[in-house]
Amino acid sequence: MDIAKIQQELQAALKPYRDEVPSFQSLPKEGLSRSDIVDMIAELSQREAPRWQSGKVSGAVYHGDPSHIEFQNTVYNLQSQANPLHMDIWPSITKFEAEIVSMTAHMLGADQTDDEIVGTVSSGGTESILLAMKTYRDWARATKNITEPEIVAPSTAHVAFEKAAQYFGMKLIRVPVGEDFRADVQAMEAALTPNTVVMVGSAPPFPHGIVDPIEELSEIARQRSIGFHTDACLGGFLLPWAEKLGYPVPKFDFRLPGVTSMSCDTHKYGYAAKGTSVVLYRGRELRHYQYYVSTDWCGGIYLSPTLTGSRPGGLSAAAWAALVSMGESGYLEAARRILKSAETIKKGIAAIPELRLLGDPLFVIAFTSDPLDIYAISDVMSKAGWNLNGLQNPPAVHLAVTIRHTQEGVAERFLSDLQQAVETVKSHPELQGSMTPVYGMTANVVLRGAVDQFLRSLLDTVFEP
Ligand SMILES: Cc1ncc(COP(=O)(O)O)c(C=O)c1O
Repeated sequence: MDIAKIQQELQAALKPYRDEVPSFQSLPKEGLSRSDIVDMIAELSQREAPRWQSGKVSGAVYHGDPSHIEFQNTVYNLQSQANPLHMDIWPSITKFEAEIVSMTAHMLGADQTDDEIVGTVSSGGTESILLAMKTYRDWARATKNITEPEIVAPSTAHVAFEKAAQYFGMKLIRVPVGEDFRADVQAMEAALTPNTVVMVGSAPPFPHGIVDPIEELSEIARQRSIGFHTDACLGGFLLPWAEKLGYPVPKFDFRLPGVTSMSCDTHKYGYAAKGTSVVLYRGRELRHYQYYVSTDWCGGIYLSPTLTGSRPGGLSAAAWAALVSMGESGYLEAARRILKSAETIKKGIAAIPELRLLGDPLFVIAFTSDPLDIYAISDVMSKAGWNLNGLQNPPAVHLAVTIRHTQEGVAERFLSDLQQAVETVKSHPELQGSMTPVYGMTANVVLRGAVDQFLRSLLDTVFEP
């Protein structure tokens, strides 16, 4: 393993425009002309767009039809200056956000419970999760005097829960999932301690896309009077419609009395421009622990619902516009198309003898290979323009199916390229996936510290001009 070499390769991959377009280490003496700037950005965007537009990328852009993007851009343009921190100046954004929260809550079972489901808009799935975890920490401190709060989450729960634990001084207890890649109910229960403030399940988790047994887990949490958070960042805007279409979707939302909070991303299958998500709570009391208020500061009384201060109101306007333009019928139709393409892709993968699907997912399809190096297959796919998400423990990749993959011929092209990639790796056993060293290193406890340092320096690279 040659870290310097990997870093060099990553540098080249991350900075393809070096030497090709002007770069600025400090401010230009005189401002550039607006038209030159727009031309430059348009050129870069045009270089990047074909890959995701044509459906070669896993997840990332969930809608992406040109007219939908234009519509989102129009709405953003109208409110690009808006900042909901100034509620008096932009009451329109306050209206949009309240309605985004309410529409999302109703989609997720709010009208099938007597409890009030409330929430806020955040900047993305990670922020929604951070906020929920901070909320449970503060709630448990105030109401149960727990000072060393613990989160119990399946190993598949998003890494944002680790980030939350690290940021907020909480302990995350990761519980291995069962062979079906779902949370192991008994093991989750066994991991609870008097310090547990919240249990987590995902609908579905990012890696393998298989919804956790939320009904059983949330019931355990309810009986213990602790919180239960369903992370529906990925599935919140898809699973309700999949259920209506007759797909087997286990209950995961506020219809379950033990579910006390949820995260659900408008900027994924809600089809809004990037930068918004919703965090929901059962009851106002919990939500109060999320808020930040200060009454004494010389800058005035300050109140802020989320982690950031100023926020991009234009993105909330765009998210609201996405929701009301799609409507129930739009989401239902999008889900129908996505699930149909996912079905085709799943069947096609199952028919390739060298590949093995992980579990039985609906729209995030993870697979591996027993005889071959799955990362090498993924590399060959990358050379054909495809972008799969690499997974580890066990080694695998996944494709999150979006509207991009429902375009004519995309699923079929994916499968024929995949078959071809398998043949290539089979006939070239010397091929090793380029990601293998990184994954190999993470699997090795002794080297984990080195990987940590390496990843930090990788982020340094990102911020180099
Ligand atoms: C299940 C799940 N939770 C949380 C997140 C984090 O979302 P974001 O990247 O918007 O912060 C993701 C992202 O893919 C996810 O799939």
